[in-house]
Amino acid sequence: MHKEITIKYLYFEDYNSLEKEDVALIQKAQATSVDAYAPYSNFQVGVSILLANNKVVLGNNQENIAFPSGLCAERVALFYANANYKEKVKTIVIVSKGDLISDNQVISPCGSCRQVILESEKRQGTPIKIVLVSQNKSVYVFNSILDLLPFGFGINE
Ligand code: THU
Repeated sequence: MHKEITIKYLYFEDYNSLEKEDVALIQKAQATSVDAYAPYSNFQVGVSILLANNKVVLGNNQENIAFPSGLCAERVALFYANANYKEKVKTIVIVSKGDLISDNQVISPCGSCRQVILESEKRQGTPIKIVLVSQNKSVYVFNSILDLLPFGFGINE
């Protein structure tokens, strides 16, 4: 039997066309990316997380001289949110600055971060909006991690 999964996302050339709440989250993610500790990659990632009570949690990547000991911005922010708040996560915004990707490419979370976002979605029982931003302001918006990680561990499709 042939089966197919369709992935949906929205694309905007300029994130300023998004609703105000999302633009504000992008600005907060950009502001926190400056505080990343990324001396080895020179690639700074900033994440803002909007919780159901409208609180915003921020995170950035934290590197280590023993490379695998570092952690991506997404997991720094999400683990902090889950450790400190019981509210559901509504939105995760991810921005970056550096030469690892080109200016017109949106930052796209690594596989491990997708799996961690999937856990949060499953745990809270509601989808998490994911906003991926490029350095030249274009943006992809996904309505659920399932569109970024179909067939994640523990999920059938
Ligand atoms: N990084 C993130 O923080 N998030 C991503 O989505 C991709 C990569 C970090 C890990 C490392 O500190 C640097 O960016 C280069 O990979």
